[in-house]
Amino acid sequence: MRRTTNLLASILLLPLVTAFSCSLTASSIPYDISPLSGLREVSKDTPTPPTTSEAKVRMELCNPEGIGKQDGVADEDQCPPNTRVCLTLLNHKPSASDPDRITAVIPIWPADIPDQDVFTTPMGKKGEQGLKVYVQGADYAGVQQHLNLTLLCSQTDTAPNPTFVSYTSGLVSLEWATPDACPRSADSPSAPSEGSSGSGMGFWGFIKFVFWLSIIGLIAYFAIGIFYNHQQYSAKGWDLIPHRDFWREVPVLLQDLFSHLFAGLRGSSGGRGGYSSLG
Ligand SMILES: *[C@@H]1O[C@H](CO)[C@@H](O)[C@H](O)[C@H]1NC(C)=O
Repeated sequence: MRRTTNLLASILLLPLVTAFSCSLTASSIPYDISPLSGLREVSKDTPTPPTTSEAKVRMELCNPEGIGKQDGVADEDQCPPNTRVCLTLLNHKPSASDPDRITAVIPIWPADIPDQDVFTTPMGKKGEQGLKVYVQGADYAGVQQHLNLTLLCSQTDTAPNPTFVSYTSGLVSLEWATPDACPRSADSPSAPSEGSSGSGMGFWGFIKFVFWLSIIGLIAYFAIGIFYNHQQYSAKGWDLIPHRDFWREVPVLLQDLFSHLFAGLRGSSGGRGGYSSLG
C-alpha cells in the first residue's frame, strides 16, 4: 500500500518538481544527500605576495532558499539570499588600511537556475563511488561560472564541510567524502525495508505504471459508459458501448496507421525500398 502511495505521489508531483532536490535519482540510482543540508563554509588561501588571496565558498545544498542573508555584512559584499553556492574572493594585506578586502562576490549556483543546468552523475558502475553534481551557473565578469561538486561515497569520512579543491577560470571544484554520497538502494540503514524494488522506480517502472494506469482508465471508462447508457437510454447490446461510432472506427484507424508506419520503415531502410529500386 505504501509503495502504491509513493508511486502515486511521485507521478502527481513529477510535473511540479522543477528545482534541484537533495533526494534525487541519477541514472536511475537513488541518492539522498539531504543530511548535507545546512550552511557549509570552506575556503582556500593562496599566497599572492605581498598579499594573501582567499577564495571562500558558502553553500547550502538542500534549502531551496539557499544560504540566506548574512547578518552584519553589507548587501554588496554577499550573494543574493537565494543562492545555493556563493564564492567570495578576498584579499588579505595586514599592513593595509582595509586588511581583509572583498574583491569579488560570485553567485555560483543561484537557486532559480533551470533544472537542465544541474547535472547529477553517479560515479562508479552502480554509483557506489558517489555522486557528481555539476552546475552551469551564470556569467560573472564575462566568464561562465561552473560548480564541480564531487561527493565521494565513504563510510568512514564524516567531514562537516567539503574540501576546496580549486577555483580556476570560472570553475569551482569542491570535494566531499561522506556516507551520504552513497547510493540509497544498497546496504544503507535509512532505505525502506521493502527491498530494492521499492526504493526507485526508474524509467521502465514509470512506463509500466503508465501502462497499467491506462488499462485501469480504459476499464473504468467502459464500465461507467455502459452503466450510464444503460441507466439513461436503457440501451442494449452494442448500443451500450460509450462513443460507439468512434470505437467502431478504431480498427480501421489502427490499420491505416500501421500500414503507413511500415511503408515508411520499408522506404527508409534503403536498398530494397520501393522508391530506391528504380534502377
Ligand atoms: C572536478 O573535481 C575533481 C576533483 O574533485 C577533478 O578530479 C575533476 O577533474 C573535476 N572536473 C572537472 C570537469 O574539472
